[in-house]
Amino acid sequence: MFRIFNCQGNNYYMQTQNLISWFDAHARELPWRKNRSPYRIWISEVMLQQTQVKQAIPYYHKFLTRFPDIKTLALADQQEVLRIWQGMGYYARARNLHRAAKIIMVDFAGEIPDKKDQLLKLPGFGAYITNAVLSLAFAQPYAVLDGNVIRVISRVLAIRDNVSQQKTRTMIQARLNNLIDKSNPGKFNEAMMELGATVCHPVLPDCAHCPLNTECIANKNNLTSQIPVKSKKVARPVLELSTYIMFHRNQILLVKRPEAGLLGDLWEFPTFVATNSGAKPGNTWSRDGGEVINAGKYIKSWGTIRHGYTHFQIRLTPSWYRMHSRSFNSDFYTEQVWINPRQITGYPMHRAAKKVIDIIREDLKIIPQ
Ligand code: ADE
Repeated sequence: MFRIFNCQGNNYYMQTQNLISWFDAHARELPWRKNRSPYRIWISEVMLQQTQVKQAIPYYHKFLTRFPDIKTLALADQQEVLRIWQGMGYYARARNLHRAAKIIMVDFAGEIPDKKDQLLKLPGFGAYITNAVLSLAFAQPYAVLDGNVIRVISRVLAIRDNVSQQKTRTMIQARLNNLIDKSNPGKFNEAMMELGATVCHPVLPDCAHCPLNTECIANKNNLTSQIPVKSKKVARPVLELSTYIMFHRNQILLVKRPEAGLLGDLWEFPTFVATNSGAKPGNTWSRDGGEVINAGKYIKSWGTIRHGYTHFQIRLTPSWYRMHSRSFNSDFYTEQVWINPRQITGYPMHRAAKKVIDIIREDLKIIPQ
């Protein structure tokens, strides 16, 4: 079976049956492909939106062991949800999962709704998650669009528009909604994603083993190295940060970030924008670190850590201070705790803060793994 559709006056066809048969024969065995439920599909797709399959697997197991169903997730403490998520990044997604679970318990009697307009109102349900849940969990014909799918379809149809632009994505979404195998939309979507992840690689795609190779216009015309067309990446600005490892007696200071914004509600060591930083911090970190230096005795600094976020990078230098007192004032952080370093694992911390722990651990042997 193939589906014919019209694109800019030309007829194209796609061998959806070949795609589905290929997926049946070659799909990777992944934990979320066994024992499926709308809840498990939702959790796995939120994780896969941001994280490679290999990295997501241990988090998926950990998350489902701790929160096996919507009710358990809804009743959990938000800090516990963040602790299980920690290390995966994009913490707003964990907070949104938790918020959405609470709403689903109250408004939908604990069942994930199967109506598009209802899903789109839930926290964290953008086009991708909504379409993934509707198609994979409820067999509704909505195509999902991620980087892998965009690459596959732009090559198959030889789309030369810039896929970094929203209008191109909107056009691709419309075309895929048309093309989707309506008898098996979930499998069609998963097969497209799988093909992008395992065969239709960005560089050196394995066209010889592709189920769409006979109709793929880019393959037939040797264009796979030129498609998809993307805007050149602009260099992300670098924000220089100073992190203070502040000790008083045998206790260390941790501070909680504001709920709204980057890394919301996660804990870190007090961190400030360094005076030499060229990049503007926005509201991600504040600038008033001078007080710490005056209120303690400098012991040493460690090497600089780099970490990247979507729109900027940070270079973060940790320094150890022995404080004269436990007084720490900040307009930025919302909570502070002085703790024995052995208690650090009880506080959800973001990846860059974990990298700090990794380099200071050698000197401060008391911090657990
Ligand atoms: N990427 C995101 N979701 C996926 C899925 N369900 N299968 C394969 N790759 C994916």
